[in-house]
Amino acid sequence: MNFVIFGIILIEFCSARRCEREKRRIKELLRKNGELRIERDQLKHEKGRFWNEYFGEIDELIAQKNELEKDIEKLNTKLEDAIKTTSTSASSFSTTDSTSLTTTSPPITPSDVFILVIPYSADASYLQSGDGSSQISATINAPSNNEYADYAAHAIVNGKLHIFGEQADNKKIARLDDCTFNVLTVRLNEERRSGHAALSIENGKKALICFGYSGDIRKTCEIFDGSTTVSTFSADWTHYRGGLGLYKNQPASVGCHDEHHQKAETLSASGWTALPDHPRRISDHSLVGLENQSMLLIGGADYAAQTGIWQLKDGNWNQIGELLKAEFHGSAIYIGRSIYYFGSVSKAIQRLDFNETEEFQNVEEIGNTRVYLPVLFQTVSNYCI
Ligand SMILES: *[C@@H]1O[C@H](CO)[C@@H](O)[C@H](O)[C@H]1NC(C)=O
Ligand SMILES: *[C@@H]1O[C@H](CO)[C@@H](O)[C@H](O)[C@H]1NC(C)=O
Repeated sequence: MNFVIFGIILIEFCSARRCEREKRRIKELLRKNGELRIERDQLKHEKGRFWNEYFGEIDELIAQKNELEKDIEKLNTKLEDAIKTTSTSASSFSTTDSTSLTTTSPPITPSDVFILVIPYSADASYLQSGDGSSQISATINAPSNNEYADYAAHAIVNGKLHIFGEQADNKKIARLDDCTFNVLTVRLNEERRSGHAALSIENGKKALICFGYSGDIRKTCEIFDGSTTVSTFSADWTHYRGGLGLYKNQPASVGCHDEHHQKAETLSASGWTALPDHPRRISDHSLVGLENQSMLLIGGADYAAQTGIWQLKDGNWNQIGELLKAEFHGSAIYIGRSIYYFGSVSKAIQRLDFNETEEFQNVEEIGNTRVYLPVLFQTVSNYCI
């Protein structure tokens, strides 16, 4: 063959090979493109997951922030209290007249109501009148006055005020005799340092003490009869800061501060059974059983303090009213046809009035409190002053 033909063959050969190479490169590029698309989809997916996690974390951070705010609130209260108790024995507005008290017909009116308010530090105790006209210092002696009832739960047993568990002594039971707290030799079975609750049961002959700060203690319960403590059924759900109240004459609890569930349950002779979930992830409220078998849930927090006054009646939760000020972490006491609710956020004392048939009427602010979670005890106008 001659040179030209050889050249042509060579060119043909080369271009065919190049073409082959190009084809391979194109194939390679197509494959890479496919891989990149898969990678892109994966990234997209991961980005979605990341956002979900991210928002979960934000929720958690918000919860932590709220928790810190509560702690700050608590420290502020303590500070204010310390300042007040060192400067004057504050009795902001006290009237000395009309102290005659005769326990007449059952519907006791607010002007005849006196509540002994014992904060975490027993020596800052005072008497609050139900109509808001007076707030007078009371002298309550305790073995160590400083932080004696910090986060303590309280209940009446055989007509006497008892406090159960607290920050410094988790198993302490103390009884108020005259104007002095006496620590009993009988102790709680479980360590209950905060977030627990106590409730008078069996017509005031016993107290049920339940829940606590962490782990399974958040489900446990025991019964105190004035001289001994006996463990009883544990709840199915945790109820740290879920409280105790009477619903249809049986103890009940709602929600949990750290697990944010909406579970409500009630304790009968055979154990705990479910009640309808509360509509919100509520905790830090006060539960009050009415005589007509329904139970009220007042204040509380669903991440933020709420104003709702809720009623569980005939198996349904309904909001029946609204506080004047959003509150959680308060204490409540039902006297006559009024609930006295001592908040810890606004420091307002709000009185919820009901009529003879226990239907909600209105809320009135009757003063300010200086404390969080006080122990409350209905008494007479000149008690321990
Ligand atoms: C109990 O309260 C409800 C309203 O919450 C009311 O309708 C009823 O009359 C009250 N009394 C009794 C005995 O049920
Ligand atoms: C109680 O209040 C409700 C609602 O405000 C009212 O319908 C009812 O008649 C009241 N009952 C009495 C005995 O005043």
